[in-house]
Amino acid sequence: MMKLTTAGESHGKALVAILEGIPAHLQLDMEKLQAELALRQSGFGRGGRQKIEKDRAEILTGVRNGETLGSPITLCIYNRDFANWESCMSDGACDEAVMTQKALTKVRPGHADLTGMQKFAQEDARNILERASARETAIRVAAGGIYKQYLSALGVEITGFVREVCGVKDEGEYTFDEILSKRNAETGMLNPAVSEVAKEKISVLKKAGDTAGGMVEIRVRGLKSGFGSMMTYGEKLDGRLAQGLMSIQAVKGVEVGMGFGVASVSGKDVHDEIFYDMERGYYRETNRAGGIEGGMSNGEEIVLRLAMKPIPTLMRGLRTVDMATGEAATAASERSDVCALVAIEVIAEAVVAQVLAFAVAERLGGDTMAQVVGRYKDL
Ligand SMILES: Cc1cc2nc3c(=O)[nH]c(=O)nc-3n(C[C@H](O)[C@H](O)[C@H](O)COP(=O)(O)O)c2cc1C
Repeated sequence: MMKLTTAGESHGKALVAILEGIPAHLQLDMEKLQAELALRQSGFGRGGRQKIEKDRAEILTGVRNGETLGSPITLCIYNRDFANWESCMSDGACDEAVMTQKALTKVRPGHADLTGMQKFAQEDARNILERASARETAIRVAAGGIYKQYLSALGVEITGFVREVCGVKDEGEYTFDEILSKRNAETGMLNPAVSEVAKEKISVLKKAGDTAGGMVEIRVRGLKSGFGSMMTYGEKLDGRLAQGLMSIQAVKGVEVGMGFGVASVSGKDVHDEIFYDMERGYYRETNRAGGIEGGMSNGEEIVLRLAMKPIPTLMRGLRTVDMATGEAATAASERSDVCALVAIEVIAEAVVAQVLAFAVAERLGGDTMAQVVGRYKDL
């Protein structure tokens, strides 16, 4: 059984993850994992924090001589910014004056601030936002790097791109290989002309003190049929992917295959008819289901889309209440991203890798990678 636990505050000492259930003898390429972390910090429209942090994951346990041991793996990313926050983020006694100065009481709409303060009986939203922050996704990307390498040993690959930035849409159809070769580093988009318009849009929003959301698409190829199960609701692969993706900060919708498009057309334009020939076995000529039927992978490419809401910290300020005084106020706006779609694409890949790795491990088990690979081949 695989299990992932993450911990860490945004301006605390470090982010950590413990991964249980990774079999022995998985060769780890740490540079691939570091590259994913760098990608998470990139993209047009990112805020000042990314200039401070240069994330590198360290392995503390579970790996020897570049190979997993089968024991729990501990990953750690130290927060460079902790040096600037130690006096008010230390686990020991903090400096009261600095704590007061860094306290956040003008709760930000679209964040966990207000509800979190009420739920956990806090007078300073910092005790909420430090954990609610999307900084947590850095360690999920690092863990995802390991799950990706586990899946890659079976020939399962994951990629994705940005489909829309705040109304600027790319309606193109792309193959898996095109996504791999065409992705623009600044916007994560594939069509160069659309990408330029998206950059202009982000610049205009930034000038206006406003922010952007959008949509990313994730694809998985090489996953054989039968992962996930219709036997129990909690085992359904589409349900598990949706849960994982919805757990990413600011994700407000997830689609599988045609997704919400199924609502407005009739059955003949939705379902993928099934064919058979001796060479190919069973196959479909369309993939509107996005590779999942009955809660199980059906062997086709998995196609997922997720919608990200616009970043909720607006430099122009949103109306709120100062919880310290009860007076009307303008929401606090610490340095902030205007657009984080390149990041959310990388995060979504990591989360999809995690969900699929768990489903593979549940079905195939295995103490060693040789066992997992052998069992996958035999399916
Ligand atoms: C990669 C990434 C970067 C983000 N950057 C910011 C940011 O700079 N400022 C901000 O206010 N929200 C940012 N967010 C969004 C908030 O983390 C998120 O909206 C908030 O935690 C509330 O969660 P919810 O939107 O899921 O309800 C970011 C989200 C992601 C995934």
